[in-house]
Amino acid sequence: MTSTRGAIRFLHRGRVRELAAESATRTVLDWLRETEGLTGTKEGCAEGDCGACTVLLGRAEAGAVRYEAVNACIAFLGMLEGRHLVTVEDLAASDGTLTPVQQAMVECHASQCGFCTPGFVMALSALRHASASASARDVEVALQGNLCRCTGYQPIVEAGARMYELTGPPVLPAVEPGELDALEDGATVRVGGFVQPASLDALADILQATPEATIVAGATDVGLWVTKGLRDITPMVHIGRVAALREIDEGPERLRLGAGVSYTQAWPALVRLAPGLDALLARIGGAQVRNAGTIGGNIANGSPIGDMPPPLIALGARLELRSRGEVRELPLEDFFLDYGRQDLAPGEFVTAVTIPRPKPGTHFAVYKISKRRDEDISALCGAFRIDLVDGVVVEARIAFGGMAATPKRAAVAEAAMRGRTWDETVLDAAIAALAMDYAPIDDWRASGAYRSRIAGNLLRRFFAETTEPAMPVRLAHV
Ligand SMILES: Cc1cc2nc3c(=O)[nH]c(=O)nc-3n(C[C@H](O)[C@H](O)[C@H](O)COP(=O)(O)OP(=O)(O)OC[C@H]3O[C@@H](n4cnc5c(N)ncnc54)[C@H](O)[C@@H]3O)c2cc1C
Ligand code: FES
Ligand code: FES
Repeated sequence: MTSTRGAIRFLHRGRVRELAAESATRTVLDWLRETEGLTGTKEGCAEGDCGACTVLLGRAEAGAVRYEAVNACIAFLGMLEGRHLVTVEDLAASDGTLTPVQQAMVECHASQCGFCTPGFVMALSALRHASASASARDVEVALQGNLCRCTGYQPIVEAGARMYELTGPPVLPAVEPGELDALEDGATVRVGGFVQPASLDALADILQATPEATIVAGATDVGLWVTKGLRDITPMVHIGRVAALREIDEGPERLRLGAGVSYTQAWPALVRLAPGLDALLARIGGAQVRNAGTIGGNIANGSPIGDMPPPLIALGARLELRSRGEVRELPLEDFFLDYGRQDLAPGEFVTAVTIPRPKPGTHFAVYKISKRRDEDISALCGAFRIDLVDGVVVEARIAFGGMAATPKRAAVAEAAMRGRTWDETVLDAAIAALAMDYAPIDDWRASGAYRSRIAGNLLRRFFAETTEPAMPVRLAHV
């Protein structure tokens, strides 16, 4: 029988905080500013886009504490359970000496009105704490989730290099892993409408008893249902403490990602499996979204424009689902039944996605089309995989997001390619066949006509890249 605890526990400002009365379904940002009076953390957009609210969360992992930048505006207070919370107020030494990150921001004149500055300092502090050096790309990737309206980004990016040249107080008031491990007692946390089990069995029991509950992973989707949709999504069941859902298992034949694995955690293993995923992952949200958001959440929300389903479907991924009495598996494409409707029974949840390792002769690419390069949802996302033997397509899998009510395979186009020599005639036939696979709609991201045309162009690009390997591949700028 799993024990229950009626309070959340986390480390903050050198002590264990235990919150029983506070609603764990408030956002971390509201709690910091309204209850704690810590107003250094700012509210800009309240939807995860601007990074003004960036805080760091420390998690014990493999004998160390790993600190990640997250958006406090869409993180719920209960998600702090077992973590070390660091805000901008915690950085400078008690005598006011600035950390190397803060000092670099001053020296590089990287702040004007200052509203965005705490968020940038926190994002850079996470990078500086994690690494002894960083490339210009590392700095840019770390700052993708932070917007500045007045300084301009150049001085801020320069501060990202300068911070490695300076000495000063520690970048963060980091804690030892044992201090976080000591908080874990295996109990299910129940505070108000927030429930957080610590094991798979406890999670299955809770969802069986309360199938109407909202499952919360990284809250980068559901957080907005609350801050923008003003919805009451309680009871919410947070899966972040179930270790089995955070496992990454890299085998010779396949990669298995637990449903609670974040984009940041999955990134290296996904790129080892399919290097073509690198450019896509770099364009999913910003670092804060990738640190909190999970691939399981991206699949489970069933959005027709989620970025991970198309490439995972093209790669032949299978989804694992579990309820109290049963574990079942299905091809990922079969999970998406219709707009907003997934093959998920009451009380059931996603446990993992398993992706077979591509064989020699497999070609794979994924292209994202959006209005902005960074921090933007796709208008269209196309993923292509073919297995070629002596120039003949022995297997083809094509999947698009943004072309139908769900992420969907292009069965007719695939059939036009299978068993044929991969040449321009077959390419033209496959592009023509896309019109039978999809009838995309107009919406404010793109017109249906634009989507159809671009889908064909992406297939043409894939053809060029698979038949002319010398051609430069500039996926990041699609
Ligand atoms: C600023 C910003 C930028 C973004 N950019 C992108 C982008 O570029 N591309 C993109 O695809 N998405 C983007 N998103 C959307 C979001 O980040 C992703 O969809 C993310 O993967 C959601 O994962 P999560 O863990 O945060 O899910 P949550 O928000 O916690 O949950 C999402 C949904 O999945 C359900 N769910 C979660 N886990 C499970 C489970 N194990 N079993 C069953 N149901 C479950 C929840 O109930 C909910 O319905 C962005 C979001 C923000 C705020
Ligand atoms: S306030 Fe804009 S990301 Fe949180
Ligand atoms: S300094 Fe004004 S928004 Fe960045």
